[in-house]
Amino acid sequence: MCPDPGEGQTKLGGRDRYYADPTMEPDPQSQDLYARVRAAARAAARRLPEPAARVLRPAARKVASFWQPGAAGAGSPEGTRPGLPIPPLRHIPEVVAIEPPPLPEGRERLTVWPDTPPPGYLGQLEPEGQKRLAERWAGVRLEDCFFYHRSALPDGRVIEGPWNLIGGESEYLGGVDLDGRRVLELGPASGWLTVWMEQRGAHVVGFDLGWDVQPDLLPLPGLDLDRMRADHIRTVSHVQNAWWFLQHAYGLTAEAVYGSIYDLPADIGRYDVSVFGSILLHLRDPFQALHQAAQRTDEAIVVVEPLRHGPLEAYQPIVNFNITRGGSPNGWWGLSPGAVVDMLGVLGFPAATLSFHRQPYRPENNPVEGATSVINYTVVARR
Ligand SMILES: C[S@@+](CC[C@H](N)C(=O)[O-])C[C@H]1O[C@@H](n2cnc3c(N)ncnc32)[C@H](O)[C@@H]1O
Repeated sequence: MCPDPGEGQTKLGGRDRYYADPTMEPDPQSQDLYARVRAAARAAARRLPEPAARVLRPAARKVASFWQPGAAGAGSPEGTRPGLPIPPLRHIPEVVAIEPPPLPEGRERLTVWPDTPPPGYLGQLEPEGQKRLAERWAGVRLEDCFFYHRSALPDGRVIEGPWNLIGGESEYLGGVDLDGRRVLELGPASGWLTVWMEQRGAHVVGFDLGWDVQPDLLPLPGLDLDRMRADHIRTVSHVQNAWWFLQHAYGLTAEAVYGSIYDLPADIGRYDVSVFGSILLHLRDPFQALHQAAQRTDEAIVVVEPLRHGPLEAYQPIVNFNITRGGSPNGWWGLSPGAVVDMLGVLGFPAATLSFHRQPYRPENNPVEGATSVINYTVVARR
């Protein structure tokens, strides 16, 4: 998931924070010159005294945002990439968003993970199964949560999170019809889209990493993968806390199921729509994950991914591996829209629409100066 586990993790103000998600940066393989110049500029900047660096930083960022493929402002002064219909970022209203409060002295964050799963992860959608899950998270409090999405609470408070999809949900999901649909949301993180889809008339089942399932981390040389897995699992646990916090706060009917995305629980049921929001890039085997959902989906599959390809490549079936060139064990694949369309066609969803959009992103370690927007694409593929 997008908070980068382990590498670059730091603690600020007593809460877990994460550096900007390196998997969201443009593909350095296809941007060699850009990458080399950026690395040289960063090395030079590190040698500057802080007051001078502070003065130069905004200008450097402006130049980078103009040139950097995949970033807001990329490719032309208007911020469009010639040849790709990328709309400007929507108006983001000023709101006072708050951080979850610090934990009281001596209190640990609620951690349900790791735990013993039911055999085969079966029975979770039985009323008794959902009741048992809800009981595990019955006491969840705001301070137990890591919010991946900026999230509005029913009492009017807005909780900060690195990704702000508020107001952009429909474009993020490719405008797919939700009313009356049974939706399987794969990797809902802290669940802002779960809330939004239920408010649009969907019945949502959120599927996330099970308690004995190891997250997929690229076995990069030199990394302490065991420590990173442990960090990652802790973060996933706090993000799952946030999903349940929103579930309780809104009184959602949405249900949760845990397990392996490569072998969905046999009794998970059928769905009208399956949603893969920014998850395929993090999976060792994205095709198997799509295949699992495709076998259970009757109407449409929605895939959202960061756009890493230019106009000449976007419509080709291109898959880049190790997208941060060893910078993060979290970034497996750069899938072009063409590759996703192809995969879904093979899986029996040949009628695809493709759209592009920008979503605001606010890195945890540098939320003000580092705030940017990321260009994503959405494929909606139908049977
Ligand atoms: C980057 S977040 C995406 C959040 C949300 N779907 C969105 O579009 O904003 C990735 C999500 O995928 C989940 N995830 C990552 N690896 C997974 C795996 N192997 N199996 C199931 N879920 C996984 C994470 O726990 C997290 O909920």
